[in-house]
Amino acid sequence: MPSERAPMPRHIGLIMDGNGRWAAKNGLPRSAGHTRGAEVFRTISRYCEKIGIEALTTYAFSTENWSRSADEVSSIMNILRKYLRDAFNQEGETSRVRFIGRRDRLAPDILSLMEEIEDGTRNNTGLKLNIAVDYGGRNEIVHAAREAAKLVEQGRISADEIDEDLIESLTFTSGCPPLDLLLRPSGEERISNFMLWQCAYAEFVYMDVLWPDFTTEHLDRAIEEFRSRNRRFGGR
Ligand code: IPE
Ligand code: IPE
Ligand code: MG
Repeated sequence: MPSERAPMPRHIGLIMDGNGRWAAKNGLPRSAGHTRGAEVFRTISRYCEKIGIEALTTYAFSTENWSRSADEVSSIMNILRKYLRDAFNQEGETSRVRFIGRRDRLAPDILSLMEEIEDGTRNNTGLKLNIAVDYGGRNEIVHAAREAAKLVEQGRISADEIDEDLIESLTFTSGCPPLDLLLRPSGEERISNFMLWQCAYAEFVYMDVLWPDFTTEHLDRAIEEFRSRNRRFGGR
């Protein structure tokens, strides 16, 4: 468990990357990496809940991931299906789950499972768990801009009233604390269209471990690193 020094992050963003390389390293098909990745996700989200993180937003499938082979996309969607059926149906589930991203390109049965989970966990008061599926940060900003334009069109606000608070309230993560820590395992050091709006003052921690090998100790280490940083938010 992390020590009591600087404040803990309230909201963590997590890019779950490296499933394919983990599979290759172990002589397995890429789908085995995704399956193992889904299991690790569950361990880590439970751990976040245990150590009192308020919000966790995880990147499961990007708007660009559709460009992978049809085989890989369909195996990811099947793993997601199975996962959605099993993972949140358990007694004692305390996290409030929200799926963020586009809803117009997913299979109808996946969408219904997502809606069921959102409805079933809506009143939970534990970890705010946002799972990004068919998510792109640019798409999210476009979505918010479009919603703001609709408010203007309906005469409910003037164009000059579009400000940062309004756009924030129209993002998929509205109601969550500001993003404190953006964590990417797998050794890649890039953002890959994740939480572009929310990253404004997030601390970035990159780790040289593939997601399926990621453990609670890695998360502790990332949190320790976060707590050693000097955040200035543009001030002195
Ligand atoms: C992350 O692992 C999972 C998804 C993007 C769906 P990758 O599949 O990107 O694994 P690598 O980066 O190729 O190792
Ligand atoms: C980002 O990883 C998306 C997810 C982890 C879901 P990618 O593997 O798709 O990103 P790139 O291609 O390395 O930038
Ligand atoms: Mg990758």
